[in-house]
Amino acid sequence: MLTKVNGIQIAYTDEHEGLPLLFIHGFPLSRGVWSNQVEAFKSRHRVIAPDLRGFGESNASAGPVSMSQFADDISVLMKQLDVGPVILAGHSMGGYVALAFAKNHSELLRGLVLVGTKAGKDSVEGANARRATAEAVRLKGISVVVDAMAPKMLSASNTDETMAASVRAFMASASPEGVMSALLGMAERPDAGDWLGKIRVPTLVITGSEDTVIPPIESEALAKAIPEAQLRVIPHAGHLVASEQPEAFNEAIGDWLAWGCEGEKYSKRQVTMT
Ligand code: MLT
Repeated sequence: MLTKVNGIQIAYTDEHEGLPLLFIHGFPLSRGVWSNQVEAFKSRHRVIAPDLRGFGESNASAGPVSMSQFADDISVLMKQLDVGPVILAGHSMGGYVALAFAKNHSELLRGLVLVGTKAGKDSVEGANARRATAEAVRLKGISVVVDAMAPKMLSASNTDETMAASVRAFMASASPEGVMSALLGMAERPDAGDWLGKIRVPTLVITGSEDTVIPPIESEALAKAIPEAQLRVIPHAGHLVASEQPEAFNEAIGDWLAWGCEGEKYSKRQVTMT
């Protein structure tokens, strides 16, 4: 489906009814990466997944797009869809957006699932490298990013060529303008570390045990800093854990929903799935 949000055409999936789950994809992907989650959770939940501006079927806007702007787009989309507080799941850059949403729109938040992400801002070198990549995309196109990132999205031991091709296809569908805007936005994002302790909603942190883009140590730090957060480490999974190990990933969310957002027994647990 398509709608106009803050002057930009935004594409989104919105299926079924129940406690709403909203999934935010990472960079430079699109909502299609959540297809396994939409299928798994729509029997019990309203499942919403937008393409962030500049990605998938959503239009891009010129200049840097801050994580707060992406978060604001989501809050406006929610109002348009008349959806109340959601359980918000964000992967990687989508996690940066989810943290900005938690800070700026806490009244619209019921729970948080932070996947393969981190709270820290870019180092000076990291931010400069992003700006250089944005310039390279302007000159040479989206393949600059796809070629650099695609080999790192799945675990090193994954030999599934169909899955690897589909990851490349998702990445290649982003517009160069959208990719440049997000790179520049990520380069200037603030550090979220100092207010993680103020998060008051049940939080689940998920990481792939073989994530080399944002290593599990970052997820451990997030789970320690957020009150009562749970941590799930999914084996045989790299950065794109939700696509690479969908059953284990969905089970982790399903368990946590029963404990954290739907049940009464929510408590701090650190779990590694075997
Ligand atoms: C992502 O997967 O969204 C990006 O790798 C995040 C980042 O570059 O920091």
